[in-house]
Amino acid sequence: MVTSAPSDWPGDGPIDLQTHDLPHASSTTEWWYQNGHVVADGRRFSFFAAFFRQVKGYDPETRDPLYAHSLTWALMDADSGTNYFVPRVDETAPQEGLKRIRRGLGGKDHKLNRALCEILERGNVPYPDRLFEGRVFVHQRKLDLQYGPDRFRKLEDGRYLLQLQDRRQGVGLELTFELLKKPVRHGDDGVVRGSDDEAMFYYFVPRCRLEGSVTVRGVTHAISEGQGWYDHEFGRGEGEEEVDDAAEAALDEATRKSRQAERRAKHEKRQVAWDWLSVQLDDGSELCVYDELYPNVPAVAGRWAIVIAPDGERRVFKDIRFEVRRMWRSTQTFFEYPVGWSVAVPEAGIELQVEAAFDDQEFITLISKPSFWEGRIEAQGSVGGRAVTGVGIVERSGYAPYEDLEGFFEEVGKVVRESVERVLPMKPDYAQAQLLIASREREQYMRGVDVDQYARTHLHPIREIVDRGGKGWRSYAAITCCDIVGGNSRQFVRWIALPELMHVGSLIVDDVQDKSVTRRGGKTAHLIYGEPQAINSGTAAYFIGIHLLNSELVSDADQIRIYELYFEALRAGHAGQAIDIDGFEYMMDEVVESGDASTLEDRVLAVHRLKTAAPAGCLARMGAIAGGGNEAQIEGLGQFFEDLGLAFQIIDDVLNLRGFKGDLKAKAEDVMQGKVTLPVVKALGTLPKDDRAWLWKTLSSKPQDPAVVAQVVDKLESCNSIEACAQQARGLVEEGWGKLEPLVEDSLAKMLLRAFGWYVLERHY
Ligand code: IPE
Ligand code: MG
Ligand code: MG
Repeated sequence: MVTSAPSDWPGDGPIDLQTHDLPHASSTTEWWYQNGHVVADGRRFSFFAAFFRQVKGYDPETRDPLYAHSLTWALMDADSGTNYFVPRVDETAPQEGLKRIRRGLGGKDHKLNRALCEILERGNVPYPDRLFEGRVFVHQRKLDLQYGPDRFRKLEDGRYLLQLQDRRQGVGLELTFELLKKPVRHGDDGVVRGSDDEAMFYYFVPRCRLEGSVTVRGVTHAISEGQGWYDHEFGRGEGEEEVDDAAEAALDEATRKSRQAERRAKHEKRQVAWDWLSVQLDDGSELCVYDELYPNVPAVAGRWAIVIAPDGERRVFKDIRFEVRRMWRSTQTFFEYPVGWSVAVPEAGIELQVEAAFDDQEFITLISKPSFWEGRIEAQGSVGGRAVTGVGIVERSGYAPYEDLEGFFEEVGKVVRESVERVLPMKPDYAQAQLLIASREREQYMRGVDVDQYARTHLHPIREIVDRGGKGWRSYAAITCCDIVGGNSRQFVRWIALPELMHVGSLIVDDVQDKSVTRRGGKTAHLIYGEPQAINSGTAAYFIGIHLLNSELVSDADQIRIYELYFEALRAGHAGQAIDIDGFEYMMDEVVESGDASTLEDRVLAVHRLKTAAPAGCLARMGAIAGGGNEAQIEGLGQFFEDLGLAFQIIDDVLNLRGFKGDLKAKAEDVMQGKVTLPVVKALGTLPKDDRAWLWKTLSSKPQDPAVVAQVVDKLESCNSIEACAQQARGLVEEGWGKLEPLVEDSLAKMLLRAFGWYVLERHY
């Protein structure tokens, strides 16, 4: 027992549930947690629920603690592989969230923080987070937690009753827990670290009998068997310092910023991440492994294995193997999580192979910034040489592979590449080649085909460019629009390769047409494979993965709409390319003469719109249709992505003149190539005639002398045309958002899209 333990903690004796199940006044953080595994109508389900209470501040007069409440619970349907998760927060969460962001305790990415603030300022939280419906009440003298419709309480007969429901997803639980074992301590005689480095007292009841019912898709099923787990943690930490927000707001910007940064650094150092495994074995024993880390230090925060014998006896072990065998990556957050483990506690003679019942048991919520993985696992192995099996829960929380949009798109890019790799393998087997060359129905098209030759000449040129990596934002567009309208992009992840293939096809062909020598930091495909193969592969990339679009989950009518949109994107893109290749030289003399550049501006914008905005818009509409969006949402998202696409191209012209970070493209390459870009057009609309004539004469000479190039850039800057373009791009994004915003519910996906709009404007690549 720690000597300085608060007086309302258990002493050295057994844990008295009558007292210690109750809320602890000394605690700044406390939670009650349940999980379990049930069979209902022959179907296997698991669940967990965590009722949290945390001190968010103190009443300025009475100094009483003020609490924030939150609840995360999930129902996992093991047979269908569906994870229903429900995060809930207090109605004060929007204000509290704003406070935290202002104090420097939001996320690292300013654009994401800003986008979140917009949602919080509307009094909302981003879906899947939602506010409690109904009152939140924590009884002081008996265990009775009422968090809106969700409740955990102790019954007169000593059992516990857990009631959960989410009408929106049509899921719920009503279960009693009858304790089959006595409570035991976790960690060092009961003490572990909390997520904010609190000293937490942790006890748990590793096995309970469950009775009751489970509701799935609106249908309630009585359970025929079930085993549960109950645990309770409470403790206190240093916590965040109290801040006088009014005084801080009055500080000068630099002081405020440095205070925020200091606070943030302290907060980050304290953060604790963990992998937690609980498993109930069929020999009547249980194992709980808890592996805690300070990821930002990094340093071990604690590591224990607790083994509970069939008779309830507890043993603690420190020598543990908890190794990851398999990872899975979410296509919503793009986080990677372990989903297969080897677990061993040598001194206890335990060796287990642990597998997720299904991979996607990710729980997305800002409560956990922005997600964790907690799911049903199944274990097989031996205890003391005897074969055992078991079922349990693993939780992995607190690890963030990226913290800003830049990092997010790096992860998106990886997923896009992995997905292309699966569709277009470097060494396809016969069946894979058959699907790419023809279809399952027409075996005869494969007769006599040398699959290696096919891969080498046809697939490799495409992979050459794909593998070098892009941001994959076109793939993100399609996928995210599905989620933004309330659909489930998990069902359409197959699509993710398609936008990238379409885009890479256009790049390969464009490089032949433009006689370009470098692409994505390497030689262009036609320089490696020759023009004939590059043209052929580039063209094939438009339709080689088209089978990915087929889905049983959309109606035939929607399937046709999706195909039509895909072809519309290609038609528009090719129309734009034709006009772009031809260029606007034929208009220039007239524009220089008249100083009226409005038609020319329309023409240049038309090329941007057709080449970039239209494909992005079509992909967005496809995603929104797949997600079951209404017509206004489908069109709203389509138009917003068109605005983004247009802004993206305008900013491309601006950045070309102002210089790319890291010199990915040489500065002002557009000037050296004599391109009529939007800043040039705008300049022609404002400059006096002599300057117009000089500008066009100089530009059309394709100046290579850096001094002359610099003169052209200076001229464009001095007449404000570059800035006017930047402003136009900003205006497109802001106005576009203004139209889309009211059409879609506040959600994490929407927040990310808002931030992505700003990212497009500020990008430096
Ligand atoms: C880009 O065309 C490829 C397509 C959208 C067809 P551009 O020729 O305008 O751009 P870069 O400079 O080659 O990427
Ligand atoms: Mg080009
Ligand atoms: Mg081109």
